[in-house]
Amino acid sequence: MSGHIPVLLNEVIQALKEQTLPVRSLFEGTFGRGGHTEALFKNFEGIRIVAFDRDSDAIESGKKKFSKEIEFGRLNLVRDDYRNLLRHELGNFDAAFLDLGISSPQIDEAQRGFSFMQDGPLDMRMDRGQDLTAAEVINSYDEKDLIEIFQNIGEVRKPFRVVRALVHDRKTKPFQTTRQLASLIERVEGFTRRHHHPATNYFMALRIVVNRELENLEPMLENLTQTVNDGGRILVITFHSIEDRIIKNAFKSLHHKVGHIVNKKVITPSREEIKMNPRSRSAKLRVFEVNHKRSHA
Ligand SMILES: C[S@@+](CC[C@H](N)C(=O)[O-])C[C@H]1O[C@@H](n2cnc3c(N)ncnc32)[C@H](O)[C@@H]1O
Repeated sequence: MSGHIPVLLNEVIQALKEQTLPVRSLFEGTFGRGGHTEALFKNFEGIRIVAFDRDSDAIESGKKKFSKEIEFGRLNLVRDDYRNLLRHELGNFDAAFLDLGISSPQIDEAQRGFSFMQDGPLDMRMDRGQDLTAAEVINSYDEKDLIEIFQNIGEVRKPFRVVRALVHDRKTKPFQTTRQLASLIERVEGFTRRHHHPATNYFMALRIVVNRELENLEPMLENLTQTVNDGGRILVITFHSIEDRIIKNAFKSLHHKVGHIVNKKVITPSREEIKMNPRSRSAKLRVFEVNHKRSHA
């Protein structure tokens, strides 16, 4: 199984080194394969990290990779949705970090059903304990809802023919595999853009819907401002324009109320990073520094 290359790693470390409050504790909502976690341990001596991931594979591999840190109480790995943070009553942190989206092992493992490049069950659940799968969305959502999903989330301008074909075909043969869905999209859309598979945006939209990735992001950021100590930062990496817009607007509405936006201009990967890791190309980092006292003054 392949690993995951952490995105915008130097930028994340630098933004945390520059915050007013020294980073002794950090909440990480999206542990993945612990790429950022490893660098945090290297760069911040004595740091204590609480990391969430709702994917049990991520937590299991983390338990092996960081067994020492867990044993010495420096890392607490929690399998849950980071949006449930407050329920765990874990106290406050000096910083918080979210690296949204999916990890490379999730995409690369055919059985998880995220990839149109390999055949697997049409699944796409990060948390395999949840009921909703991609197959259920494709086989049971009505035509209008599917069009809306692919247009609004997938940013496919005209998904009508694909959705019509899909609704027609599923009557006789429900969609069960990623290849079945990808071949229908290939058949209807054809290959018109170089280096861009026609199923890319359809699959991305489906994944976002299955995992409810755009829900409650804004209230979550507000919760984080209550959980992060004054002078500490909240860092968020996104990979999708709608997601980035939500973060940008949420930080704007919190600006001057509970702290301030650190980087007015969004931070993106360097050309070298994109060359080395093409999956980083759509990454965007936004940083907010919490300060309740100064903001109210
Ligand atoms: C982009 S990866 C993180 C990669 C990580 N920074 C690294 O360097 O290895 C995103 C991870 O967050 C997890 N995830 C996404 N949304 C989540 C949520 N709402 N709650 C908990 N984990 C989530 C996914 O399962 C995935 O493992």
